Amino acid sequence: MDDQIHVRIGCDDDLVAARAEARTLATALGFSRTDATLIATAVSEIARNIVVHVGEGEIRMEALCNDTRYGLRVVATDNGPGIRNTSTALEDGYASRGGLGLGLPGARRLMDEFEIETEVDRGTTVRMTKWRQRDELERLRDRDRRAS
Ligand SMILES: Nc1ncnc2c1ncn2[C@@H]1O[C@H](COP(=O)(O)OP(=O)(O)OP(=O)(O)O)[C@@H](O)[C@H]1O
Ligand SMILES: [Mg+2]
Repeated sequence: MDDQIHVRIGCDDDLVAARAEARTLATALGFSRTDATLIATAVSEIARNIVVHVGEGEIRMEALCNDTRYGLRVVATDNGPGIRNTSTALEDGYASRGGLGLGLPGARRLMDEFEIETEVDRGTTVRMTKWRQRDELERLRDRDRRAS
């Protein structure tokens, strides 16, 4: 489960694949159906931005695990035009091409951690993570596994 998943993003069909991979990984990590849907939605918005504003890029997803929680980390990268003003781009309703301008702020709200690193004419990396608290049973199982 600690493998990274790569999805190349170049067309609308890839959004469906990214969404499905996000949902599968979230479910494997024990996220609720609702949370899996929220994560898949955030991933597809970020992927759609790559298709619409750049053309191509990549999404990587990986499972995180520490003593107290599981996490699903998403890293989206592209070599596109970059975002000139990230705080404006993160406002509800800012759209440069007639969209609704809800993709970035929406994805940020759906995830627990969210950051954008971008350079004009170089590209953009969006990193986001959602966490799930491990319950007592999972911690006990883990302890047993380590002890045996
Ligand atoms: N990967 C990217 N590369 C370059 N610019 C981007 C990228 N992602 C977002 N942007 C810029 O940030 C703006 C805000 O993105 P956001 O997803 O919130 O809105 P939108 O894509 O314009 O509309 P919507 O997602 O609601 O259809 C975009 O209009 C675009 O200018
Ligand atoms: Mg968008």
